[in-house]
Amino acid sequence: MATKATATIQADPDAGWSLPAWTYSDPEFFAAEMQRVIRPSWQVVCHQSDVPNVGDYHTLEYLGESIIVVRGQDGDVRAFTNVCRHRGARLVDGPSGCAVAKKLTCPYHAWSFDLEGKLVGVPLKQSYPGLDQSKHGLVPVDLDVWRGFIFVRLENDGGPSVAEMIAPYDHEVEPYRFEDLRAFGRVTLRPRHVNWKNVGDNYSDGLHIPVAHPGLTRLMGSGYGVEAQENVDKMWGPIRERLSNNPSEKAYQKYLPHVPYLPEERQKLWTYFKLWPNVAFDIYPDQVDFMQWLPVSPTETLIREISYAVPDDRREMKAARYLNWRINRQVNAEDTWLISRVQDGMASESFTVGPLAETEVALRNFCRKIRGLIPEARQHRSPPPGWSRRPHAAN
Ligand code: FES
Ligand SMILES: [Fe+2]
Repeated sequence: MATKATATIQADPDAGWSLPAWTYSDPEFFAAEMQRVIRPSWQVVCHQSDVPNVGDYHTLEYLGESIIVVRGQDGDVRAFTNVCRHRGARLVDGPSGCAVAKKLTCPYHAWSFDLEGKLVGVPLKQSYPGLDQSKHGLVPVDLDVWRGFIFVRLENDGGPSVAEMIAPYDHEVEPYRFEDLRAFGRVTLRPRHVNWKNVGDNYSDGLHIPVAHPGLTRLMGSGYGVEAQENVDKMWGPIRERLSNNPSEKAYQKYLPHVPYLPEERQKLWTYFKLWPNVAFDIYPDQVDFMQWLPVSPTETLIREISYAVPDDRREMKAARYLNWRINRQVNAEDTWLISRVQDGMASESFTVGPLAETEVALRNFCRKIRGLIPEARQHRSPPPGWSRRPHAAN
């Protein structure tokens, strides 16, 4: 299939090669990535149903920032930095909550902000002569909602909306009734001692499935596929009719009930979409989860994940959801082992870049995009320190 990715790969002189190992641990490369890749990219926070009432909020912490997403009196959801405009204290704690008083009051000196971010309460106001309250509201953060999921980005560099990014596959997502999803389970945060790109590379890597995921191979045979578009990758695998000999997998194949709103060809299909650069949706007939790999340091990443489902009380559906979790817990354990091995191996002076198979269209596209944003990623060894601050460094 002649995807956009395939077309642009030909223009990249390094197409066919991975990013060099130094970019997976170098502090200066990491800092450049945070500025040029992660700050301008959309990060999923939660689903609209996670903040159903006025005052409900969720937070997302990454890159030293904490963002609050809160539902206002008008029913709209807004995003702000979780920072009081008085002396900079964090306003709210924890991953979620509800501002029952319909305002956010700072625990330090009790400045308060309404749910639209306006500064509405300043104790001892007369002691700040000339204070213009209208200039000290919470700092807004760019927000986007796609099919019920709420995203934020720290910087708007004019990049596409989430809907524009996923547009090539939106028709495939449409039948899953994303707007009707409800969380089941809680957000999990799993620290990994690897560079964030290693998590993403592994997520989009199709070659390792038959080698390193025996469970997925029993379920999908050789049906696993990978496609790449400019800002979204798709991976998919149909669940075979032939029963696995593993008890959880066999039971999943047996119990997974018919889902009335899904077309026939999606009843037994697992699909994965990865949005540039570090957010993914795993879409199963029985449930949907999002997963994002948040960079913490050059060699540390936090995997943030939560499952959602359209309410369905059938016993077979409950069983299928539990079995899915069991199967994928094993897949996760296998991937954790794999990415650690890669991170460890990359620390060797003996390794720089490796070849990418022609079929690895998603990895090729990711590398091409990173090289476009940070041209030093073409160098096999790290340049002398300070490269990212020198005037000739391309942006
Ligand atoms: S820092 Fe928030 S009220 Fe003073
Ligand atoms: Fe994997």
